[in-house]
Amino acid sequence: MASRNHGRNHKNDDNHLNGDSSFSHVPKKPKLGTFITDSEIQSEFAHHDPAVARINNGSFGCCPASVISAQQKWQLKNLRQPDHFYFNELRKGILHSRTLIREIINADQVDEISIVDNATTATAIVLQQTAWAFQEGKFQNGDVVVMLHYAYGSVKKSMEAYVTRAGGKVIEVQLPFPVNSNEEIISEFRRALERGRAGGSRVRLAVIDHVTSMPSVVIPVRDLVKICREEGVDQVFVDAAHAIGCIDVDVKEIGADFYTSNLHKWFFCPPSIAFLYSRKSPRCSELHHPVVSHEYGNGLAVESAWIGTRDYSSQLVVPEVLEFVSRFEGGIEGIKSRNHEAVVEMGRMLATAWGTHLGTPPDMCASMIMVGLPACLGISSDSDAMNLRAHLRDVFGVEVPIYYRPPKDGEIGVVTGYARISYQVYNRADDYYKFRDAINQLVRNKVTCALLSN
Ligand SMILES: Cc1ncc(COP(=O)(O)O)c(C=O)c1O
Repeated sequence: MASRNHGRNHKNDDNHLNGDSSFSHVPKKPKLGTFITDSEIQSEFAHHDPAVARINNGSFGCCPASVISAQQKWQLKNLRQPDHFYFNELRKGILHSRTLIREIINADQVDEISIVDNATTATAIVLQQTAWAFQEGKFQNGDVVVMLHYAYGSVKKSMEAYVTRAGGKVIEVQLPFPVNSNEEIISEFRRALERGRAGGSRVRLAVIDHVTSMPSVVIPVRDLVKICREEGVDQVFVDAAHAIGCIDVDVKEIGADFYTSNLHKWFFCPPSIAFLYSRKSPRCSELHHPVVSHEYGNGLAVESAWIGTRDYSSQLVVPEVLEFVSRFEGGIEGIKSRNHEAVVEMGRMLATAWGTHLGTPPDMCASMIMVGLPACLGISSDSDAMNLRAHLRDVFGVEVPIYYRPPKDGEIGVVTGYARISYQVYNRADDYYKFRDAINQLVRNKVTCALLSN
């Protein structure tokens, strides 16, 4: 059974969050015996619909009651005296959040951290700079941007909008799935760079996910960034929408030019907040927020902190999130490692129950894992996957995304659908038993996707 004891794992006792340990903004962990209890966790997430087994933290994340309440205080401060809030508190509050994030991700300077709404906005900021480089003649027509075939859908659309339209050529790295080793990814990545350079083209940018969304795989991002440096790729952007709170993030060690992560997925913030790290370089001044306001030209971090009148409260509650995670043994490090162990355990339980397999080895997943669904469900298109997901939600009260993996030439009777299960602190083994039993019932009743679509 997945661990429910949030003080049991001693592995991370000595872990410090990244950064200067002699001057830490991160709250101290509570004394032994005072860690958060199961019933306190339940009350922090009592607003979740009790009828739903929510095993999809990956899509939209979660936010505990104590953080929601801190957010509401900020909203009231704004509404109480907006001029005081905007002129005296907002910028200070955002700077404080940026300072805390800098420490967690081990960036050198707070100027390298901008807070934006989400990974989609961060992608627009980076790709807009690429589009201008084409327009201003710094890049030539046909210069290349490389991205993973499993890049997130909105990132692919952004490539169309900013790169292809500006004259760039986008090359996708074809990744295998199921995947067995980092080497499979690394060799496909090298092949894509070679294709990119064919005929003398320059590879101007590589966009690399840290944790892909669908199918979910942890990408050996440090190795890929290193290859980019060796092969003369101009810039590297890591789309790490899932990373913070889910996997180790040390931006200096990873070495990319740009790195973004949402805090509203695995870091308990309400929507919307993400950081965009941009390594100090002369080209930093070319980055701009796509929404232009009073601070245009004062550096991305300052521009992003005032993009017109709006609700900034989600970007001001990072201190309270750190208070929340400090109630768990090992803080966010402890949460991360227990979530990983639990999702692997639950993934194995499901694969055994259905006679299928996992889509990745455990060390290539973080707090999400892909589990093969029985072939007899007949998942044979993306719309089958969507219909099955809706059926699980509407009929069984299970929220889980489904991935369709087309059979390769000659494959018959193989697994063509995988569920992406997540594990977060509010989950219980019963959530996964509910999912197991729902699929078993569909199989017993000979329900197929062809029947569901009628
Ligand atoms: C890999 C990846 N990139 C980008 C995004 C976009 O995140 P957001 O919708 O918060 O902008 C997601 C969302 O799931 C994602 O998984």
